[in-house]
Amino acid sequence: MAAWLELDRLGLHESGTHIVEDVTLSLSAPRTVVLGPNGAGKSTLLRLIHGLLHPSNGALRWPRPLSQAMVFQRPAMLRTTAIANVIYGLKLRGHGANVRERRAVAALDHVGLAHLAQRPARLLSGGEQQRVALARAWALEPELLILDEPTASLDPASTREVERIVGEIAGAGARILMTTHNLGQARRMADEIVFIDRGRIVEQTPAEQFFSTPRTEAAQRFLQEEAP
Ligand SMILES: Nc1ncnc2c1ncn2[C@@H]1O[C@H](COP(=O)(O)OP(=O)(O)OP(=O)(O)O)[C@@H](O)[C@H]1O
Ligand SMILES: [Mg+2]
Repeated sequence: MAAWLELDRLGLHESGTHIVEDVTLSLSAPRTVVLGPNGAGKSTLLRLIHGLLHPSNGALRWPRPLSQAMVFQRPAMLRTTAIANVIYGLKLRGHGANVRERRAVAALDHVGLAHLAQRPARLLSGGEQQRVALARAWALEPELLILDEPTASLDPASTREVERIVGEIAGAGARILMTTHNLGQARRMADEIVFIDRGRIVEQTPAEQFFSTPRTEAAQRFLQEEAP
């Protein structure tokens, strides 16, 4: 498989602390899940890849530029309706009014929220807001969807719904790069696992193999500790 992103000795240092260090990584799987303990640098790595942070050293190489969207643990909703939140994302990317309206309606429908389109987004439940955030991402028709613990505050039913939606976005051709502390979710969603600890890559392993026979002791320990 051809790589869609190569990281070359990527580093991020903040006031003397190495948050991400010497990360050399080639991403080619359609669905990659980044695992690691709290503070490992997962969110920071995703933010670097999405361009929200600038590396202190090293480089990101995109063999072909990919349009991206990112979804966070806590969805940031504007103080307006659900559909206006989706439309706003499209506006920021410069889409015209017709495209905005058409894509926003379709995206809310895809996430099962057509009936709540005119509700104030901030009055929706956490699970519903996360689905609006996914609709906002989906409407952009991203080639790469990045998700940072998208189900961390959701109940099992909402979690499965988010997984279904992400699966459909992947089915539409988007590459998926996400983090989670839900190992069941990682098993269900990942083709490949990137395991990081203290800002460094520990291993990069096909998902099935990672969960049956992780290569490193650090990953074995992590799996034992995180297992419910
Ligand atoms: N701007 C910053 N300045 C200093 N330290 C930071 C900064 N941003 C993050 N850190 C630190 O870098 C480390 C990695 O943070 P990050 O949020 O990437 O971890 P994480 O793997 O996403 O953890 P979690 O599983 O808890 O979400 C943490 O120790 C954090 O406190
Ligand atoms: Mg994080």
